[in-house]
Amino acid sequence: MLNQPKSLRVWADFSTFANDYEKSRNEKIRNMENPFKFGTIVEAEYFTDRIEEVAYIRHFVESANHLVLISPRRFGKSSVVAKAIKQSNRKSITVNLQQVTSVADLSAKLLREFFRVHPMERIRHLISHFRIIPTVTTNPLTGFMDVSFQPGVDASILLEDVMELIENAHTQNDRIIIVFDEFQEILDLDPRLDKKLRAIMQKQEHINYILLGSQESMMTDIFEKKKSPFYHVGELMRLGKLPREDFHRYISERLKTRFANRCDELADSILDYTSCHPYYSQQLAANLWNISILQPEKEDALEAAIDHIVISHGLDYERLWMNFNRTNKWIMQGLTRNNALQTGEYPTSTIYSALKRLQKNGYVIYTDHYEIEDPFFKEWILRGI
Ligand SMILES: Nc1ncnc2c1ncn2[C@@H]1O[C@H](COP(=O)(O)OP(=O)(O)O)[C@@H](O)[C@H]1O
Ligand SMILES: [Mg+2]
Repeated sequence: MLNQPKSLRVWADFSTFANDYEKSRNEKIRNMENPFKFGTIVEAEYFTDRIEEVAYIRHFVESANHLVLISPRRFGKSSVVAKAIKQSNRKSITVNLQQVTSVADLSAKLLREFFRVHPMERIRHLISHFRIIPTVTTNPLTGFMDVSFQPGVDASILLEDVMELIENAHTQNDRIIIVFDEFQEILDLDPRLDKKLRAIMQKQEHINYILLGSQESMMTDIFEKKKSPFYHVGELMRLGKLPREDFHRYISERLKTRFANRCDELADSILDYTSCHPYYSQQLAANLWNISILQPEKEDALEAAIDHIVISHGLDYERLWMNFNRTNKWIMQGLTRNNALQTGEYPTSTIYSALKRLQKNGYVIYTDHYEIEDPFFKEWILRGI
């Protein structure tokens, strides 16, 4: 150590300091549990409002009907459905179609989820009816079953057998709920899958389906177009943002311990900034909370929280921006400045179809007007103009 050049020693001191700083930062955050949560399904104390929606969904799963629930991404579909199912005390399995790669994969995922609610031993006799026997192994890391089928087999037979198993393991008085998340993906998975699945569903009596989707236009095509096999299959329900008053109370109450005198005002500023978006409001509130612990001396903590989020996502935003064509960039900039888009720069039809595409890809949402989905992306664009 003695022979080490001074610059190296300084560097070593600095990195020890930086490590200690990082450790104490993490320690501080760990010790004071953040009362806000974003990015996963929220429940219990992290879940607010949606009382009517939960009651409505429960009413559905208690009847013999199916439910279709539409909202943009991160509005709270999965959370509200999880809560209603939990209250109903019913068995359920969920498969996100966005993570499914083929009909065989869908069958395997359904069966894997099924094993989570039904231990293998009790349904072994039902599996013996399968025309193609799956390979089932226990994953030592998760303790759950992994399921796979031999490649190359007829995938529609697999789906029929798995669905029949689920149906037969239940009764009229013990119906199971199947949740398909991002259901609009069914159209991309396999050209005949919608017809196939509908035909299977028509023979079932012991399953309620809850079909969630975040692409409004595809979802309405599936359920509202007369030619679609899923035409009017279930009740269509739309989930909006959280009501401001309730969300305000939720945020303000939690900020109270850190910002006693300003919690109401801060909750207002957060909701103004995010337009009451469930996910981004929780994200901003969580970051504000962290700043209050890590930099208690900071005067404008909200500004610092916004900065932190925008900067930490800068690379992603840059990548997204680079992939936009000129029309999209122009529209996003117009929405950022709340400009009217009809300025003669582009024909109305071009603007309209570009907006629809941006909406389909989740960059823009429409509630009572078009707006940029992510307020921090909007901020990033604004800073670059
Ligand atoms: N009822 C709620 N109360 C509080 N926060 C919510 C609520 N619903 C959603 N959120 C916030 O939005 C995020 C996304 O919710 P999620 O249910 O995953 O939405 P979706 O399934 O529509 O994408 C959650 O992690 C949480 O931060
Ligand atoms: Mg979800």
